[in-house]
Amino acid sequence: MDNSPIVAQVDTSLNYTQEDGLIVRSPVVFNSQSQDSMSSEADFDSRMMQRCLELARRALGRTSPNPLVGAVVVKDGEIIGEGFHPRAGEPHAEVFALRAAGVGAASPEENRARGATVYVNLEPCNHYGRTPPCSEGLIKAGVAKVVVGMVDPNPLVAGGGIARLRAAGVEVLVGIETEACQQLNEAFVHRILYKQPLGILKYAMTLDGKIATTAGHSAWVTNQAARSEVHQLRAACDAIIVGGNTVRQDNPYLTSHQVGAHNPLRVVMSRQLNLPENARLWETDEAPTLVLTEVRANPDLQKLLLKRGVEVVELPALTPAQAMMHLYERGFCSVLWECGGNLAASAIAQGAVQKIMAFIAPKIIGGTHAPTPVGDLGFTTMTEALPLERVRWRVVGSDCLVEGYLPQNSQ
Ligand SMILES: NC(=O)c1ccc[n+]([C@@H]2O[C@H](COP(=O)([O-])OP(=O)(O)OC[C@H]3O[C@@H](n4cnc5c(N)ncnc54)[C@H](OP(=O)(O)O)[C@@H]3O)[C@@H](O)[C@H]2O)c1
Ligand SMILES: [Zn+2]
Repeated sequence: MDNSPIVAQVDTSLNYTQEDGLIVRSPVVFNSQSQDSMSSEADFDSRMMQRCLELARRALGRTSPNPLVGAVVVKDGEIIGEGFHPRAGEPHAEVFALRAAGVGAASPEENRARGATVYVNLEPCNHYGRTPPCSEGLIKAGVAKVVVGMVDPNPLVAGGGIARLRAAGVEVLVGIETEACQQLNEAFVHRILYKQPLGILKYAMTLDGKIATTAGHSAWVTNQAARSEVHQLRAACDAIIVGGNTVRQDNPYLTSHQVGAHNPLRVVMSRQLNLPENARLWETDEAPTLVLTEVRANPDLQKLLLKRGVEVVELPALTPAQAMMHLYERGFCSVLWECGGNLAASAIAQGAVQKIMAFIAPKIIGGTHAPTPVGDLGFTTMTEALPLERVRWRVVGSDCLVEGYLPQNSQ
């Protein structure tokens, strides 16, 4: 139950008070003039945070195991520096933004960040990793205020960066555009909290629930707009998984089909390794491919794959859970399951899927034995159905996209 104070009838202007390192929003009544200035300030903060998210998105798919972060330095209502975190091992967004504002320049007068406000979509880090802590960098640069989109999800560090800034006298505001910030980094957050990548099951089905014809033909279920959206989704993910049947029947590319966009690692799960010697996935110039299999499966094909530049990893038991563990250990945050129904059912049953993205095409193909998106889960009564949470749907071209999350406790 929501126990937050009822604010709706009082005023939509909210003032922010600081408690325990977090910002608590509480209702206050302003005169109309200050109300206007408060709401324009809030609007400005929102716009700057949106800009941070826009900057962060430039590195989509490239930052794992790190989050997507953008930062903006503002002085006298003007942006004087911007930056984003391009990939793990490179400096953080705040460093780039401060540099752009003249921090670290040959003469200290060029530091325009002194007294400025820095916007950043994730709490600045406070620990020495591959780079020094951003909290110290912000303090050293002499910024007056930091506006943070969301707190670091890692329970061990949550609030640490904010506390450090406040202890040094920097004003900190937390919770601007939080929902959008959390959405952008949902895979990073999942990885931190659950120690496994976020599994997204994406499929395209006809209105009568088929992902292919009875003969196995599936190109294409949806129209161009939906397929373009899938390409964008791929560019934002670290890996895509399919099973052996999908390779045998569809021979997919699984690339993001966009110039300059990131291509995720293409992963094939195959037990027997009874796979074609020629498949588009073995063309590794454009994107890398990993084949996950079991110990000593088809050594001849393994040799051939290695020659083609395909990585082959033998797992003691080839299961979706083991595959996710392997991908977690490689530092991945997001894994897109683009497999057929049998592997999808197995992935759901083992807790390797948290999010569903179902593209539905308004067409009927029929077929008693035509494949469906999710195979047998062993359920016999409708009460056992997995209800999706936080469901959203929208029209994409002439198709429809339904998105939602599987309940965490069913995992
Ligand atoms: N419309 C869509 O969105 C869409 C997307 C993908 C696929 N499809 C269609 O789906 C059909 C294939 O369905 P499918 O379910 O057989 O797909 P799949 O994606 O090929 O998955 C099944 C295969 O995964 C491998 N596998 C490895 N470990 C497994 C495990 N623990 N549990 C289950 N499988 C495991 C096996 O490969 P090995 O046999 O090589 O050992 C198995 O044959 C095709 O007709 C394809 O066109 C449609
Ligand atoms: Zn940092």
